[in-house]
Amino acid sequence: MDLPSLFSESALNLKSSKIRELLKMAGVPDMISMGGGNPDSASFPFEEIKTIIGSWSYDRAKAALQYGTTKGYVPLLEEIADWMVKRKKVSMEGQDILITTGSQQALALLSKLFLNKDDAVIVELPSFIGAIAAFYSSMGRIEGVRLDEEGIDIGDLDRTIADCKKKGKTVKFIYTIPNFNNPSGITLSREKRQKLLDVSRRYDIPIVEDDPYGELFYDGTVEDYLPVKRLDSEGRVIYLGTFSKLLSPGLRVGWIVADGELVAKLELQKQSYDAFTSTFSQFIACDYMKRGYINTYIDKMRKVYREKRDAMLGALERYMPEGIQWTTPKGGFFIWLTLPGEIDAEEVFKKSVERKVAFVTGDAFLPEDYARNYIRLAYSDLDIDRIDKGIEILAGVLREMIG
Ligand SMILES: Cc1ncc(COP(=O)(O)O)c(C=O)c1O
Repeated sequence: MDLPSLFSESALNLKSSKIRELLKMAGVPDMISMGGGNPDSASFPFEEIKTIIGSWSYDRAKAALQYGTTKGYVPLLEEIADWMVKRKKVSMEGQDILITTGSQQALALLSKLFLNKDDAVIVELPSFIGAIAAFYSSMGRIEGVRLDEEGIDIGDLDRTIADCKKKGKTVKFIYTIPNFNNPSGITLSREKRQKLLDVSRRYDIPIVEDDPYGELFYDGTVEDYLPVKRLDSEGRVIYLGTFSKLLSPGLRVGWIVADGELVAKLELQKQSYDAFTSTFSQFIACDYMKRGYINTYIDKMRKVYREKRDAMLGALERYMPEGIQWTTPKGGFFIWLTLPGEIDAEEVFKKSVERKVAFVTGDAFLPEDYARNYIRLAYSDLDIDRIDKGIEILAGVLREMIG
């Protein structure tokens, strides 16, 4: 039977994810994979999770294994509201929270809620592959805006939106990863956070602020990485948080903070997706916050990841040939390499995989027909020795190719 001939238009729009393909390489024995942006698997707070579960009464255990409500487990919603106000300095007035099955689900829900066929979404160049996939799967179009060292280029943003308007395109939202953008590692400066909000106000276009890494900073202070949402008093910013990097991506718990009316609509949307996010995971996340484990873990992981970042930056400095440029992330998991224009990152990938080093080529994070001379490197789930070895091998490949 020819099942593909029955596929919907949006299903035909789906492409296989390059990262998922490349991640298969990570499983090859001895491969040094700088590909997937996994959290450090050696540091998962497994003992804390065991303590949490071990402390549950029989009634609590029964509730944790039972169906839950779509909006989320109320004590967890309360913990997150408190976190948003005290830690993130966000006003919750008129705002509400929806628990999601990871931020990826939040991106899918928002795409489904906002996008009609050919509606435009503004994304940073480069931007998170999972977000791009969600926008495409709802038949949206991507409009890219350049990043400079201080985050999204406000002039380019303004021009791109004005241009869309002139061409009669509807821009539904601006998608941004202000802290340690995945994949580039670039951070939106404090000055530009206000300017971004000003553009949103001027054109009356909401911002989707995706912030999985904001707590994992290695330079500067908390103030430098507070969300754009904190400056917003008009419900323009839709904020996405997740426990994936602060606890475990395997639990699949994230959240959306947005205008109450929007959250109510997203809740309806979620009912047809998965009805509710794992109660078991939500109970763990809730106790993890209540017991203060989250703070201890964040303090520990800032040190762990800082060391890895420094090791990769040091190795790049030591081994890379002339002509290669890279970003210096202040936090997060990623470094973005720019190769000389004539070098195709895919060719580099083929050669370095033969030598057991994997990474993700930059085109996965960019619209089609964009330059092909970028590489994303993740240092988050590699030990220091392998970071050094991996960069030495990659630099060897590049030296041969540059000649
Ligand atoms: C920028 C960004 N947004 C969202 C996600 C998805 O996170 P989650 O595991 O919460 O679905 C990731 C994961 O890597 C990410 O880097």
